[in-house]
Amino acid sequence: KQRVLTGITTTGTPHLGNYVGAIRPAIEASRADDTESFLFLADYHALIKCQDPAMVRQSSKEIAATWLALGLDTERAVFYRQSDVPEITELTWILCCNAAKGLMNRAHAYKAAVQANEEAGEDPDFGVTMGLFSYPVLMAADILLFGAHQVPVGRDQVQHVEMARDIAQRFNHNFAELFTLPSAVVDDNVALLQGLDGRKMSKSYNNTIPLFLPEKQLRKSINKIKTNLLEPGEPKNPDDSTVFQIWAAFASAGETARMRREFEAGIAWGEAKKQLFELINDELSAPRERYLQLLDDPSHIEQVLQRGAERARSYSMPLLKQVREAVGIARMD
Ligand code: TYM
Repeated sequence: KQRVLTGITTTGTPHLGNYVGAIRPAIEASRADDTESFLFLADYHALIKCQDPAMVRQSSKEIAATWLALGLDTERAVFYRQSDVPEITELTWILCCNAAKGLMNRAHAYKAAVQANEEAGEDPDFGVTMGLFSYPVLMAADILLFGAHQVPVGRDQVQHVEMARDIAQRFNHNFAELFTLPSAVVDDNVALLQGLDGRKMSKSYNNTIPLFLPEKQLRKSINKIKTNLLEPGEPKNPDDSTVFQIWAAFASAGETARMRREFEAGIAWGEAKKQLFELINDELSAPRERYLQLLDDPSHIEQVLQRGAERARSYSMPLLKQVREAVGIARMD
């Protein structure tokens, strides 16, 4: 069976980019008979970017409710919270002792922080924690501990999956062939969804459209998507338009082709945005109802997560035992 695994960092409210880049493809994959899915809340990853405990807690609840509201079948998929599986952090240390520092120096998130410091004339490592530096190793542990073959992610996470692959290869070579080599799975239609300002939709850019905004606010938010100044009737280039890009991430191939023609025929921005709102709202209004109900029932969510952690550990414990033995850490009797 193919194993599919992905996680979402518990900082902030899930947005359309998380949905089309990771959640939707992962839920689709989890329905196939020949796959086993592992889906989790990356709350240890959250500590890297967020020192606000209330935010981490709230976000964990929102992200868990999101997966459930979107119809994840938690009897089939193993759905858990990263911090409930202690084998992940244990494996992280073992991998830290094996992964090359030079490889981590190349990680985008770390490099971006150093570059920002240099541009600001600061010490390059100002504000850079060991957590940020080791982020890809923690992520490698997430992936390798469950023998994932496929990791559905947005394009921004591909490098991390490749690093996990490198780390696995090195371990397999040095000790024992214990790890499966994972591959990133990126949906080409939506490799990286753009946000309100046309940059990558991201919590750190404050340009997101939250997934379960109430209808009125969703309409308002879509109206804020930046467009160029073309008037109704003037032909518009779909390929440099955020409105069109988001449309393509939600619409069928036929509807996308139709919208492309409408753009070229000069559809008014107001009309294009109205249709975009209707498209997204139709897909999300039923899950939005369930989401609101779930947020009111945290003990149900917790129960689901605890059951998931138990199942996750039935996979992680035996593999970690083998890893410990392979590196020479084991009982003597
Ligand atoms: P995170 O929480 O930043 O994002 C979660 C998922 O959403 C995708 N994504 C996007 N996809 C398309 N367009 C966008 N604008 C967009 N923004 C975010 C991300 O690519 C990601 O797939 N480190 C990871 C979480 C993680 C993980 C893992 C993922 C931890 N361990 C193991 C896979 C496997 C992160 O911070 O994603």
